[in-house]
Amino acid sequence: MNQAVRGVLSIARGVLDELELEVVLAQVLEASRELTGARYAALGVLDESRTELAEFMTLGLSDAARQRIGPLPTGHGVLGELIRNPAPLRLDDVGSHPHSFGFPVGHPAMRSFLGVPIIAAGEPYGNLYLTDKQDAERFTKEDEEAVIVLAEFAGVAIDHARRYTRSEEARTELQQSVAAFEATVEIARALGGETDLSTILELVAKRGRALVSARALVIELLRDGQLVVAAGAGSVPEGLIGQTISLEDTVAASAMRTRQSQRLTDELNRSRFEQHGLGRFGLHAQDALVVPLIFRSQVYGALVAIDRLSGGPQFSAEQRRLLEAFAASAATGVATASSAAAERRRQAIAATEAERTRWARELHDETLQGMANLRVVLSAAQRSGKAELMSRAIADGIAQLETDIAGLRSLITDLRPAALDQLGTEAAIEAWADRLRRTGLEVDVSIELDYEQGHTSQRHIPELETALYRIVQEALTNATKHGNAHRAVVEVTEDQREIHVLVRDDGSGFDPSKGTEGFGLLGMRERVELLEGRLTVHSAPGRGTTVAADLPVRRFADYAAAETEAVTGRRRG
Ligand SMILES: Nc1ncnc2c1ncn2[C@@H]1O[C@H](COP(=O)(O)OP(=O)(O)O)[C@@H](O)[C@H]1O
Ligand SMILES: [Mg+2]
Repeated sequence: MNQAVRGVLSIARGVLDELELEVVLAQVLEASRELTGARYAALGVLDESRTELAEFMTLGLSDAARQRIGPLPTGHGVLGELIRNPAPLRLDDVGSHPHSFGFPVGHPAMRSFLGVPIIAAGEPYGNLYLTDKQDAERFTKEDEEAVIVLAEFAGVAIDHARRYTRSEEARTELQQSVAAFEATVEIARALGGETDLSTILELVAKRGRALVSARALVIELLRDGQLVVAAGAGSVPEGLIGQTISLEDTVAASAMRTRQSQRLTDELNRSRFEQHGLGRFGLHAQDALVVPLIFRSQVYGALVAIDRLSGGPQFSAEQRRLLEAFAASAATGVATASSAAAERRRQAIAATEAERTRWARELHDETLQGMANLRVVLSAAQRSGKAELMSRAIADGIAQLETDIAGLRSLITDLRPAALDQLGTEAAIEAWADRLRRTGLEVDVSIELDYEQGHTSQRHIPELETALYRIVQEALTNATKHGNAHRAVVEVTEDQREIHVLVRDDGSGFDPSKGTEGFGLLGMRERVELLEGRLTVHSAPGRGTTVAADLPVRRFADYAAAETEAVTGRRRG
């Protein structure tokens, strides 16, 4: 083995350690020139059809010379000779070869030529071209052998690097798919227990941002023909969440219309983003991925990922694909939570409606009918002019009025029990318990509220007092009406932070997981939620029922003076 070949081996070993394809190719180029003493070296990589060169790297040419030469060769002429016939080719004068087209204008003069094919994994990969051996007329047989050995090593290194790159790619792809899958599962899991839209949105924003390692991610939702910035994660300008954006001329709008994700690499999109979209609210971006949220062909809004953090700011095609896949599951979450929220709203409205209907019916059926009746009796008596009839009518009238007054009073009590204002929560609850005792229910009431006990001079806000009263009232009514209970226990206690209400009965019980038609429990839940408390109903057929509510303490002093006045003025004045 001659010295040149030994040189090849040492260089080739260095090449074999290298895993980056680009680096491998550059090293091969470098080594081939060094080994042969060529002035110029080039490496052409074949395209997929293996009929032309897709890449052409050179060594030895100055930038200026490269510019003068113009477009890189694609493999015609002598270079093509090695493509058609992948075998070493050594020439004294490349220009005199029958296939030579001659050099382009500005090309440095080159005479001696040595070309060797590179085979990787059994397939032609490209060719090494060496020209103009320095200090000699031509390339030698030894040069040729050295380059052949080098090309062989190059082939192995290229294959190695290609496979390494592929497995690296496969690994990153797998990792990202796993991340996307995890994010999807997390959202699905959250949806199982959580149907609160804002919680879902927050989760979607955070996970989506992490998935594509974006600087920020914003969720825009369609509301009444506009876009609302519903949630965000990462570096989002203050005050952005909650802003509305007109649909006109925004990137999100075109993403939603075309049902295709949009990029800011598009100039029109960029100016839309800056002038009409998030840019107006101080969220600036180099690149953005705007992906529509579509569930069952309905568009809910868009995810907007801003600037890739590592390796960015441009997002890759892979990240786009990931965010699109993620958007599909995010849209499911948003749709489910939106409809759950809408359903709760609908129920709340229905509950209020039902309550009003009941008042209207009671006013109509009881009070109004009674009064109409009274008028008939009184005017008949008046027309008759008989004293005897008149006094009977008056007696009837008084009785009727008494009934109506009682009816009206209970209706008004229903709206806001007078007892609450006059006597306070404890006495009002006691009064209601008393009413039920008269129907045969045994009720134990134990109430310990700070105001009533004289521990504080401030009452709870009226909404809270009403809620306490209503919860007990509804639970006790249900105990008798639905549960036919014999006995019920009412406990109301208060600590620094919360009021705890407990109503237990020994009635028939029911299955709370089965939806019911009633509005009583629904109204109870509504009230508790409005006051940011928690309600639990434990019951099972034959096991009685327990209703428990925990409500955060809120006193008048918690409010601004003006608001206190407004409330007291209205409620107490
Ligand atoms: N304490 C209870 N004992 C037995 N069943 C109850 C009790 N509370 C509620 N229920 C059941 O739950 C249903 C819904 O109650 P609710 O929402 O208060 O409706 P309603 O307006 O009919 O009272 C009732 O129809 C009944 O079947
Ligand atoms: Mg009820």
